[in-house]
Amino acid sequence: MHSNKEMVKMGVLETGGVIQYSKGLEGVIAALSSISAIDGAQGKLIYRGIPIEMLAKYSTYEETAYLLLYGELPTKNALDEFTVLMRELRHIPPKVEMCITELPPNPHPMDILKVAVAHSGLYDPDQYRCCREGVMRKVIRIIAQIPTMIAYYHRARTGQEIVPPNPELGHAANFLYMLHGKEPDEEEARIFDIAMILHAEHGLNASTFAAMVTASTLSDINSAIVSAIGTLKGPLHGGANERVLKMLDEIGTPDRAEEYVLNALKEKRRIMGFGHRVYKTYDPRARILKEYAEYLSKKYNDTKWIEMGEKIEEIMIREVGKKGIFPNVDFYSGIVYQFLGIPRDLFTPVFTMARSVGWAAHVCEYTQNNRIFRPRAYYTGPDYVEYVPIEQRR
Ligand SMILES: CC(C)(COP(=O)(O)OP(=O)(O)OC[C@H]1O[C@@H](n2cnc3c(N)ncnc32)[C@H](O)[C@@H]1OP(=O)(O)O)[C@@H](O)C(=O)NCCC(=O)NCCS
Repeated sequence: MHSNKEMVKMGVLETGGVIQYSKGLEGVIAALSSISAIDGAQGKLIYRGIPIEMLAKYSTYEETAYLLLYGELPTKNALDEFTVLMRELRHIPPKVEMCITELPPNPHPMDILKVAVAHSGLYDPDQYRCCREGVMRKVIRIIAQIPTMIAYYHRARTGQEIVPPNPELGHAANFLYMLHGKEPDEEEARIFDIAMILHAEHGLNASTFAAMVTASTLSDINSAIVSAIGTLKGPLHGGANERVLKMLDEIGTPDRAEEYVLNALKEKRRIMGFGHRVYKTYDPRARILKEYAEYLSKKYNDTKWIEMGEKIEEIMIREVGKKGIFPNVDFYSGIVYQFLGIPRDLFTPVFTMARSVGWAAHVCEYTQNNRIFRPRAYYTGPDYVEYVPIEQRR
């Protein structure tokens, strides 16, 4: 390990003093933003100042998307225009449709989404526009097209006819329609819409940060979204929701939850859907999703999943609540999605479909006053190593 003085000599630090290092960038402020704020101690989340609970109660995904992108709630006219635009832009280019529907059925749909978003960027009529309207259209086009990409791939891989977007339906209802080939009932469409609102934005999480890093090089928005999709896919981030259901399958019945959780904790295995870098209390989004998971369980008279979920929650809070580990957004979302007939491997793509607006809002905000992201690493290697010619190496 080198001293600070040695590091300065080696050009690693420009000045002496205390070396700042935060593993995983914990607690580091990397940008100024007026998009959302999380109070991790109180378990509060606001989008542009509005509490998430109010948006879940009164707003729609389209209105929330407008709020996140433009900074304020739309007037009636502005929302109407935005909604029309979102609906017009849902269609994906024919070549992208052909590519999606011909891709093999086995890759994870998140990998298909990376390909599809990258591919559709090639046909974006606003590809080379860098004016604000051009960028906004590009952004709204991606947000509008992602649900179509997911639904088309799913229909094709299951040997079903693709169902084109229905301009009469809102963003959430239209996705369920394209996925299932029939209009969802109003209540289910609304619950899905609320889930989309709750997943739309969450500060500088890993995928948003990945999008911002890509955009900060002045690359294009499609590249930024592709970076974000690849990042969201991981099990420590958006991929956790799918794994929660896998865990519930493994547990099987509520009476086996205690043994499973205690063993997992003893073996230092993570319980998916718990813990968060910022929340050290109950994630407010999980609280709302839990209510809908309970509601749908009663509606369909199928309470096994929610009973297991609630049992796990009780044990986790009892065992590790003092360490600040509570349910996060991914814990109950899977149960909700399952009741809405969404296949498990589409849970993370559905998260993508909601979060694309948060990614886009941060990219637009950051690049308006851009500075390339370029952190440093603390060098821990040897000071000097002699170069050994290959014939002398052993
Ligand atoms: C979200 C997450 C990656 C945050 O990680 P982080 O801020 O880096 O926290 P750490 O990995 O440093 O964990 C801190 C402590 O809590 C424990 N912990 C964190 N999440 C845990 C979980 N889900 N199950 C069991 N223990 C957990 C860690 O083992 C560690 O314990 P230790 O201090 O005794 O070693 C982490 O909580 C996790 O892996 N959760 C499961 C995946 C998940 O649900 N992701 C979705 C997030 S929205």
